[in-house]
Amino acid sequence: MGNEALTVRLENVNFRVKEEFIEIIRSVKGLELVDLTGRCNLLILEIGRDPEKDFRRISEIQASGEADEIFLTALQVDSNMLIKALRSGVKEFIPQPLKKDEMVESLLKFLQKKLEKEKREASSKSVKGKVFTVFGAKGGVGTSTIAVNLATAMAQFKGNPSVALVDMNLLSGDVPLFLNMKSVFNWVEVARNISRLDATYLMTIIQKHASGLHVLPAPVIMGDDTCMSPDLITKVEKVLELMRTIFDFVVIDGGLLLGYVSTYLIGISDKVLLVTIPSLPGIINTRKLLDAFHDLGYPPGDTIVVMNRYNQKSGISIDEVRKIIKRDIRWSIPNDYKSTMNAINTGVHLLKSAPNTDITKKIIEMAADLSKGELCKDKEKKSFFDRF
Ligand SMILES: Nc1ncnc2c1ncn2[C@@H]1O[C@H](COP(=O)(O)OP(=O)(O)OP(=O)(O)O)[C@@H](O)[C@H]1O
Ligand SMILES: [Mg+2]
Repeated sequence: MGNEALTVRLENVNFRVKEEFIEIIRSVKGLELVDLTGRCNLLILEIGRDPEKDFRRISEIQASGEADEIFLTALQVDSNMLIKALRSGVKEFIPQPLKKDEMVESLLKFLQKKLEKEKREASSKSVKGKVFTVFGAKGGVGTSTIAVNLATAMAQFKGNPSVALVDMNLLSGDVPLFLNMKSVFNWVEVARNISRLDATYLMTIIQKHASGLHVLPAPVIMGDDTCMSPDLITKVEKVLELMRTIFDFVVIDGGLLLGYVSTYLIGISDKVLLVTIPSLPGIINTRKLLDAFHDLGYPPGDTIVVMNRYNQKSGISIDEVRKIIKRDIRWSIPNDYKSTMNAINTGVHLLKSAPNTDITKKIIEMAADLSKGELCKDKEKKSFFDRF
């Protein structure tokens, strides 16, 4: 986007106030008013005589991604309308008669948010690898199962992609158990050696699993987010930045969404996978988290909802869940307690311990979709990474 102006479109705005809106928008540098239908950065919509219809239109815009953000305005506002607006993901409500200063302030806030996002994107473009962070909408929904098996599947793809798996679960990092790995360096130890940090050093201490995956576990006792001093956070950020320049794919087990570290992970991720299960708390939490992602300015297309443990007996259909969370569910992973539990307890990933099951096939499909890779039948090729 660079220095291009951000586009603003008015929809359904009554002629009483339309000229005033146009004048205010034109007075803000960096905004361009467009009157075409189609994609725009900001859509200002007036709730008119038929609010139901207008709210249906808002859902339509949210689903289609026609506008990055929506501001609402109305001549008369009641609390019901405000609650509905908030629930539908609308960021600002502009009361009428218009107060120029307040509206300019809202527009500047919108511009600032966009600018910050552009900066983040520009810095991530100069680097090589793709980062996928897997978060759980709740504890125990299968976040680690998906992160570990997604990463091991990617490492088996043709062309030997280099894949790293980082355990950023600050409460119960158990990735090494899933892969039966012992005494591996964790990211706090790596971060403490930051003065020595370069690709060669990292590749020397990061342990390689038999699947080809490089694993960086979480420290054993972290407690919670508050134990992460600002200094340590900066160092860990450096480790992750370096990792994405060396690996084709960095898969992160993000655990639960907790504080600053999670926000940072969302910011650096090419895709965020939000794992949920077909239970009411799982679905409601997913909805809340998607709203929070929206507030952070994270593009809806970069968050993928994964329905884990789904089967016909779940009591709720994928379509019903889609309606509640107002978002597509790209993948649903079958319920297979036996295979997943056996994989965890033996420390052998699903591709090896249960290769022909539906769950494994689905995870391979998911990994292929994310990385555009294809499974390699005989994985004998050597790569730069095998030297380490
Ligand atoms: N698709 C599935 N079908 C059936 N059981 C599953 C599935 N995925 C995970 N599980 C089971 O759910 C339990 C929790 O899995 P896992 O440790 O991966 O979840 P988690 O979200 O990482 O948990 P935590 O919040 O403790 O980090 C395990 O017993 C596992 O066997
Ligand atoms: Mg876990």
